[in-house]
Amino acid sequence: MALARNAFDVAVTDLAADMLGDTVSGIEAAGGRAVPLVLDLRSRSSIGQSVAGAVHALGRLDVLVNNAGIPLIKPALDITPQEWGSVISVNLTGTFFISQEMGRHLINNKRPGCIISIASTHGILGAAGQSAYGISKAAVIQMTRMLAIEWAEYGVRVNAIAPGKVDTPSPIRQEVVADLAVREKMLARVPLRRFATSEEVAAMVCYLAGPQAAYMTGQTLLLDGGLTAY
Ligand SMILES: NC(=O)c1ccc[n+]([C@@H]2O[C@H](COP(=O)([O-])OP(=O)(O)OC[C@H]3O[C@@H](n4cnc5c(N)ncnc54)[C@H](O)[C@@H]3O)[C@@H](O)[C@H]2O)c1
Repeated sequence: MALARNAFDVAVTDLAADMLGDTVSGIEAAGGRAVPLVLDLRSRSSIGQSVAGAVHALGRLDVLVNNAGIPLIKPALDITPQEWGSVISVNLTGTFFISQEMGRHLINNKRPGCIISIASTHGILGAAGQSAYGISKAAVIQMTRMLAIEWAEYGVRVNAIAPGKVDTPSPIRQEVVADLAVREKMLARVPLRRFATSEEVAAMVCYLAGPQAAYMTGQTLLLDGGLTAY
């Protein structure tokens, strides 16, 4: 919705069509253009169809935001190969292959553009109980550097945002902060003593997508209330 407010036409994706309605109607109600598309990042064919559908509907793509991601809160000793596979397949493999699809679209069409991935401070700091998730996000941060270098000559900028805790309606994340003692403990580690808002993440996405960030590539911007400044 923030991108639409910044005059972007937006392809909105999620796992099922009925998950897209609110965002699409919110954008349209504000006078923007939104195209709903089903995307399952675990499937290469779904990635291909979704990118092709967005190109077909919008004519061309300028910006890819890799926001989809799944958490896993579990001790490292208990993580099964299936759990490991599901986190890595969405957070890393799917994120890589849709970025590849976007890179191919931009490079084949000789157009500049940008890719923005939502990483996490768990990809930078150590933490107990979130190893698979943190490892996947660390890989996204390194993917950002690698693709930025490889595609700079084509005018494709690749950046990431690493938020600390964000207040989003994600059920697993809400469960964690619903425990007041856990919430207080997490907040005590944040110098600004609050979590980020989705709007603050969105504002950073809009900055990275816009002309003011034309000289910015290969970077991961930390949006963490000072968490990593200690
Ligand atoms: N909420 C936080 O505290 C926080 C902190 C740091 C980073 N992040 C990152 O921000 C991003 C958004 O997080 P959120 O809290 O809004 O989570 P969320 O669960 O609300 O949103 C994630 C979205 O990804 C979609 N998704 C899941 N699997 C998918 C798949 N296979 N293919 C396509 N889409 C799929 C979900 O349906 C959901 O709409 C994630 O990458 C997350 O890791 C979140």
